[in-house]
This record gives sequence, C-alpha cells and structure tokens, in this order.
Amino acid sequence: MIEVKNLTKSFGDNKVLDDISMSFEAGKCNMVIGASGSGKTVLLKNIMGLLTPDSGEILYSGKDLAKMPPKERKLLYREMGVLFQSNALFDFATVEENIGFPMEFFTRLSKAEKKEKTDMLLERVGLPGVNGKYPSELSGGMQKRVGIARALALNPKYLFCDEPNSGLDPMTSVRIDELIAGITEEYGTTTIINTHDMNSIMGIGDRISFIYEGKLKWKGDRDSFLRPDCSELEAFVHSNALASKLIG
Ligand SMILES: Nc1ncnc2c1ncn2[C@@H]1O[C@H](COP(=O)(O)OP(=O)(O)O)[C@@H](O)[C@H]1O
Ligand SMILES: [Mg+2]
Repeated sequence: MIEVKNLTKSFGDNKVLDDISMSFEAGKCNMVIGASGSGKTVLLKNIMGLLTPDSGEILYSGKDLAKMPPKERKLLYREMGVLFQSNALFDFATVEENIGFPMEFFTRLSKAEKKEKTDMLLERVGLPGVNGKYPSELSGGMQKRVGIARALALNPKYLFCDEPNSGLDPMTSVRIDELIAGITEEYGTTTIINTHDMNSIMGIGDRISFIYEGKLKWKGDRDSFLRPDCSELEAFVHSNALASKLIG
C-alpha cells in the first residue's frame, strides 16, 4: 500500500500538483488518468523518490519515504519495478543482458541462476527463446514485454508503469494491459499505471484517479467511471473517445 498525503509540487510558479492525497492498493491496477501535461509523470516521480515534494508525504506501508534512512531507501528501490514511456532497453545489449542488469547490480545470483530466472521471465511475458536478440530486432510490443520482464527481475512489490501503451497499436496495447493486470494479480504488486488510454482504463482499471489542474478531481472504479458525477471527467472521457474514433 502506498499513500500520498497532501502532496504539492511546483516548478517555478507552475503548480503542477496541488494538495493531492490518494492511496494505491496492493494487488490492484491503480490507474492515474488525466490530460497530457496534467502531472501524472511528476506524481509518479515523486512517489518513486526521483523528485522531492515541496510539501506532503509519500508513505510506503505507513513509512515516510522522506524520513527513510538511506539503507532502507535502497531496499525499497529494489522493490520497485519500472516500465516507463520509452521502454529504455539498452540497444547495445541482448534481451538476456537487458533482463540481467538488475540482477547483476542487486543480487549475487550465479550465471546459471540468472539464466534460469531470465528464461522463466521470458516465458511469463510470452517471449520464450528470444534471449540472444537485440531490442532493434523486436517489434514495439515485444520490446514492452522485455521491459516488463526486466521490471520483474527482482520480484518487485511495486510496479510503476508510465503510459505503457504509448506507441503501440490497439491490439498490442490490450495484450500488454492484460499482461500487466495478470502480473499484478499473480505477484500481488501495488501497480500504478499512468494513462489516458480509454481502453486501458475500462479494461484493467481497478481504481481510477483523475487529475485535473493539479488536483485529484475524481476517483472511483470502472462502474462509476462511465457515469461520473464530474463534468471535467466527462469532458476528458468524451474528448478521448472522440480522438480514438478519429485515429482508430
Ligand atoms: N523537470 C521539470 N521542470 C519543469 N517543469 C516540469 C518538469 N517536469 C514536468 N514539468 C511540468 O509539469 C507539468 C506536468 O508534466 P507531466 O507530469 O509530465 O504531465 P503528464 O505526465 O500528465 O503528461 C507540465 O506542465 C510540465 O511542463
Ligand atoms: Mg507523462
């Protein structure tokens, strides 16, 4: 469980997040939605400790991230699996090497153990046998899967996904969503997904939080999402539905 309490973050006089309080449950796909530029990535970076809040708290199982001793913080970082917009695979390294990096840095697993783990992860994300391929030899969807396998390499408690479907076609997006949702349930991760993809929200959103002009404007589940008591959310849904009709 992750809790955000009264989080405020500005860049100069641009107040991006204004007194945001929300919580993220374990074993659930917690969706953070909002227009482009609404502060989703900034929120996630604060949660991950990559940015420091101006005020407010980030709590991991009740413990304040800002007050954690460096050792504890380091352990926490190990528990974070991250899948960012650009899938951030190293081009110069094979799939197996890419997945191996976190294990290399953080564990003392033997070569054989790493290989076994990599095979297991590639199996789990539906890409058995691609160990020796380079990212450039894989499709966008396959690269995402490798990114997911790498994010899982250290058995994370938390899975942070920033626009995991960006650049993917709708069919591939659905498969990636299903993979993330399946992993969330199976591993019991506290999963946070930043998105403005309506299919994702309706497909796998267990908890949905809508950010608008720096505020948490609405939260609810899928059922209430379709008849929200919030005109700004209605406008957001409408414009996204329209956009996907025009594009798709
Ligand atoms: N490092 C930064 N320095 C200054 N402004 C930033 C920085 N990061 C984000 N911002 C600003 O914060 C706002 C929210 O950005 P972001 O969180 O990336 O939006 P989203 O992820 O919802 O599209 C934008 O106005 C952006 O320009
Ligand atoms: Mg973003």
